[in-house]
Amino acid sequence: MAPVETVMKFKEYILSNPDAAALAGRHLLKMNDLSKEEILAVLDFAEKMKTGAISRAEQLEVLPGCTLAEIFEKPSLRTRVSFETGIYQLGGQGLYITSGEIQIGVRESVYDISNVLTRMVDIAMARVFKHSTVADLAKYAKKPVINGLCDTEHPCQALADILTLKEERGEVKGLRFAYIGDGNNVCQSLMVICAKLGIGFVCACPKGYYPAEDYLALASRLADENGTYFELTESPAAAAAGADVVYTDTWTSMGQEEEAKQRQEAFAGYRVDDALMAKAGSRCIFMHCLPAHRGFEVTDSVMDSPQSRIFEEAENRLHAQKAVMGLLGRK
Ligand code: CP
Ligand code: NVA
Repeated sequence: MAPVETVMKFKEYILSNPDAAALAGRHLLKMNDLSKEEILAVLDFAEKMKTGAISRAEQLEVLPGCTLAEIFEKPSLRTRVSFETGIYQLGGQGLYITSGEIQIGVRESVYDISNVLTRMVDIAMARVFKHSTVADLAKYAKKPVINGLCDTEHPCQALADILTLKEERGEVKGLRFAYIGDGNNVCQSLMVICAKLGIGFVCACPKGYYPAEDYLALASRLADENGTYFELTESPAAAAAGADVVYTDTWTSMGQEEEAKQRQEAFAGYRVDDALMAKAGSRCIFMHCLPAHRGFEVTDSVMDSPQSRIFEEAENRLHAQKAVMGLLGRK
């Protein structure tokens, strides 16, 4: 990559980008909290930091001396490391808090936790079982709250995914995105971000594992508004036909371990393998939010193929999360 000659100051960047500036003090609980312009502003800021157009030294001026609370009711590799490394690179520090420690709603109420926490820290990120927990944290918070995955959404993942697709193709409008598998959190955030950015989205899920009705309605409406399409099918082959991206996620999400066997049966025809990838476009890439269960939702051959962008995608969690924290947490 050629060295970037002009290093931009963070303050100048904010002054030059009203959509980025408008995010200060806001929450990110679901993908629909951001307008199309705001999504593009987050992605642009992430790209500027990743490429060094805003240098690592300058990035230390984004959130100097700020603290991020990272609340985890479930395990994590990418989310924890991207937020914790990210806040450090922006001049602040992270504070890892497990559910065993604060016991949300057990040791004390969400109301009390939110009030106490957000009087001390500058940003809170929470990975929770129920969307209502992160929504309640935000409702009572005095500082921005970021959803680090819940039962209904994973907006930070979707931003990193589209950053990856932008790097791959430049213009993303008009591309075809095929999601194969469980229509839950990751899928629902992707449906919304793709519809907002004019990306055609085809979701292939077995009966009983469709996205929620309200997300189906939202994605269809947003797709109409942005000149694209949203489709739901039970056929992975139909979804993958002509796709620019084939994406999958685990069949058994965290907290559903007891359903693993029944899910393996329901999703048996939904494995992403070489034959399915062959139905896609010649420039098609494979993506997965990870962690992957190799041999279940995807074969080793696809995970490790030249079309796979899984590790670029994982790295982009760092750049996307820095952009989210930097813009929402800006004073
Ligand atoms: N993709 C993702 O959120 O990974 P982690 O569960 O490891 O954070
Ligand atoms: N759907 C998965 C995503 C993990 C990042 C889960 O909720 O476990």
